[in-house]
Formats: sequence, C-alpha cells, structure tokens
Amino acid sequence: MAFLFALVVCILVFLAVVSYVHYARRRNAGEGQGGYGGGHEKPSPSSKLPPGSMGWPYLGETLQLYSQNPNVFFASKQKRYGEIFKTHLLGCPCVMLASPEAARFVLVKQAHLFKPTYPRSKERMIGPSALFFHQGEYHLRLRKLVQGALGPDALRALVPEVEAAVRSTLASWDGRVMSTFQAMKKLSFDVGIVMIFGGRLDERRKAELRKNYSIVEKGYNSFPNSLPGTLYHKAMQARRRLQGVLSDIMRERRERGEPGSDLLGCLMQSASRGGDDDGAPLLSDEQVADNIIGVLFAAQDTTASVLTWIVKYLHDNPKLLEAVRAEQAAVREATDGGRRPLTWAHTRSMALTHRVILESLRMASVISFTFREAVADVEYKGFRIPKGWKVMPLFRNIHHNPDYFQDPHKFDPSRFQVAPRPNTFLPFGNGVHACPGNELAKLEMLVLIHHLVTGYRWEIVGSSDEVEYSPFPVPKDGLPVRLWRENRTVDRKGCESDNVEDIIV
Ligand code: HEM
Repeated sequence: MAFLFALVVCILVFLAVVSYVHYARRRNAGEGQGGYGGGHEKPSPSSKLPPGSMGWPYLGETLQLYSQNPNVFFASKQKRYGEIFKTHLLGCPCVMLASPEAARFVLVKQAHLFKPTYPRSKERMIGPSALFFHQGEYHLRLRKLVQGALGPDALRALVPEVEAAVRSTLASWDGRVMSTFQAMKKLSFDVGIVMIFGGRLDERRKAELRKNYSIVEKGYNSFPNSLPGTLYHKAMQARRRLQGVLSDIMRERRERGEPGSDLLGCLMQSASRGGDDDGAPLLSDEQVADNIIGVLFAAQDTTASVLTWIVKYLHDNPKLLEAVRAEQAAVREATDGGRRPLTWAHTRSMALTHRVILESLRMASVISFTFREAVADVEYKGFRIPKGWKVMPLFRNIHHNPDYFQDPHKFDPSRFQVAPRPNTFLPFGNGVHACPGNELAKLEMLVLIHHLVTGYRWEIVGSSDEVEYSPFPVPKDGLPVRLWRENRTVDRKGCESDNVEDIIV
C-alpha cells in the first residue's frame, strides 16, 4: 500500500516537473524569439509579457474556452487582468486586446507588424490566394479590385437586384415557419451571386454553385484529413468542383469577349490585361477562383447572422418596431405603395432604420474578434508581444464596454444619434483589412427591413433566449419564425384565410 502511494506521488511529481519545464521552455521561447523589423521600437529590456494565465501544457486554456460561452471567457479574463492579457489557445500563445487604442495599434498603426493568420487547412479550403490571407503589395492591389466592384456606383446599380432577392426570400417564407438564419443565408448567398456575376448567371450554374458551396461550408470546421467519406474530404472535392464551374464561366466570358464589370469581370480583366507594370498578369484563373470563393465565404454567414438578430431585436422591441414601420411606410408611399422599385436615394433616407442596423451590429458583434500574428517582437504600453504569438483584438469586448457604450446590454439605437468615439465601433474591423463589403451588407439590411416591416408580420416560434455558434452567434435553432403577409389573416396555427396580392414586381 505504502509502495503504491509512493508510486502515485512520484508520478504526480514527475508530471508536475515535466509540465513546468515544458511551460517554462515555451515561455522562454516566446520571449526570446524574433528579430526587430522596420519601423518600431525594439522592446525595452524591462518590458514583460502581459498578465494572464497560459493554462495546461499543450492544451492551454482551450478547454475553458470551449466549455463555456466564449464571450464569458473573454469578459471574465478582461475583468481579472485588464485590457491586455495573455492566454494559450488551440496550441498557440495569444495576446488579447480589449481596448480601442490597442485594436488600432494592431490593425492600423502598426499593421505591418501583424500578419493575418488562419489554419492551413482553412486556407486550402477557401483558396490560398484569397485576399484576406495576404498583406503587402499583392493584398493592396487585390483589395482595390474588390473595392471597385463594391463601390457606390456598383451598389447603386445593384439595388433592384437586392430588392428582387429580398422579395423572393420573403415570398417563399410567407405563411410558413422557417429558420430565420437559413432564410437569411439564402438571401445573402443570392445577393453575393448577383454582386459577383452581375445577375448574368443562369439558374443551372447558380444551383451548381449553391450545392457545392454548401458542402464546402459543412466541411469548413471539420477535422482536416484526407480520408474519403469525411466531411473535410467531401468539402475539398466540392471545392474542386466549384473551381471547375468558375473556370467554365471565365472561359465562356473570354470567348464572348465580354468579361463584364461585376466582381468576376474586375478580377478577370486584371488577369487578361496584365495588371503588373511589367505586363505580367496579376491573377491566374485559379487565383480569381480563390477570391470569388473567398468573397462568397466572407459575405454569407456574417450578413445572415446580423439579419437574424435584426429580426429578433425588432420583434422584441414593439415600440421601436412601430417607429421603424412608420419610417418605412413613408418610403413605401414614395414608391407609390410599392409599385415602383426602391432606389439608392430611398435607402439613404432611412435614418432610424440605419441606427437600428448599427445597434444590431454592436449588440450582436457577430465577429467577436479577429486574429493576427506578430511578425517581430513588438512592445505595446510596456508589454512585450513576442514574435509568432497570435494577437486578438476583441471587438465584442470593446462594443460591450460601458466606458464606451452606456448600458451596453440595452438595445438602444438612439445611442447612434451621436457618432461613437473613434475606434470603439468596429463591426467591420479597421485598417487595411477592414471589410470592403460593409456597404453592401448594410444595403441588404435596409432593403430587407423595408419589405419586412411594410409587408409582413412575424412571430418567433419557441424560445429565442439561448445563443448557438455557427460559428457566428445566432439565436437558438437559427430563430424559427412564422411570417405572413400583413393583409392576410393567420390563425395561431398558421392557417391563412384570405390573401390580397399587394406587391407588384
Ligand atoms: C454584416 C456583415 C459583415 C460583417 C459583420 C463583416 C465583418 C468583417 C470584418 C470584421 C472583417 C475584417 C476581418 C479582419 O480584420 O481580420 C471583414 C473582412 C472582409 N469582408 Fe466582411 N463583413 C460582412 C459582410 C461582408 C460582405 C457582404 C462582403 C462581400 C461582399 C464581405 C467581404 C469581406 C472581405 C473580402 C474581407 C477581407 C478584406 C481584406 O482582408 O482586405 N464582408 N469583414
């Protein structure tokens, strides 16, 4: 018995020593690594790592993160350690930054010292040439092309297409219970397709893209391996098929001699005209395809989750909903009761609705944080960020900090009557990688709200207080909602009794 006890003690002591040695080595490796790239101060000898805990060897604090709501994890760390703290997640030492100044330091002022970082398996799935994996010259030139297809003129021209997509989404929901998130995913996919292909894509191709894209999505967060039958393997196969469809579309456009002025056209023309000073093409067809898939990926779930939250927030705030309805009724009158299409100018006249969108972006903070990796040892406010460490600006913590947004858990669009303090409102990020699709996303939301509140009523089915991560936060089960046209009478079981068609497309 005594022998057994001694053995157990020895094992425990041995494990503790191994853990400590491993931890100390990792910490020293983190502290010692790295050169000092251009344009920043060499960390002073007195600089120290930020406060925080690194958890267990290898595992770090990954289990704590995944065993609770991630927002609670970050918020409790911030409460304990302040606005900059360290932790260890998914095998990487990380520094978390929860202040507006620190987010600006990483994303804007010293952006060249922090490169975008994604797991290799995810890069392969989206396409390694997609712009958000890059920085420097290639990223800048690509970004200009993408921004060109998302600029004010392009968006103005897209309003009728966005309106048609919104009308079709609501019409197919009418009289039924649907997951709001799934309905909004379809909408944002359709809008993404119109922006990329300029409304010139035939239904067969669209169906092929939709089918394969949804298989890619399913495998995106699965364990990466090449075993046939696994979600990851299926996703990689679907990704190859997507690339094939895109290559066919590019070839046909080239044969017709009409690349087009949509996103695909902008990217293709840079390739065929030779974007480089020396005449070399900027993008191969494969790189164009990576970027098309990347934009679809960046556009869909983000926009769909915010739209889902908007439906919930409006539902939960009846007085606000009435005020929004009144604002939108005036717009509807201006469109002759919906007989004429919405225009860009109409969407610019929706002041209250716009504030509802900003407040939804703040409250929901669907992109809670982003990742960068330090490319050199960097010092920030006396703290050392070692080369190779991940750096995470925590958007949600900033958006929910009462120092910047009074009573932060209250849904109150009127707070946006005054512009937020600089760098405190970052739903679309900041700096060189800030979201180029933000105006398109807001346009989609304005048009959706217009038709939703002027033409429909809706009720939430079941409880909507729990949140699930998909991976963005959305209400449980995607917010099941029964929706019906305003001038229909619907009994509680969802049976309709009359219908007056009021929409003239
Ligand atoms: C409500 C909807 C959206 C939200 C909340 C959102 C949020 C963001 C954020 C926070 C970033 C920066 C990430 C970082 O710095 O690491 C970003 C980047 C990006 N977004 Fe969005 N986005 C939305 C919709 C869209 C749409 C509709 C598109 C395309 C039409 C789009 C395309 C992109 C692209 C291409 C990037 C990468 C930019 C770069 O690396 O230069 N996003 N988005």
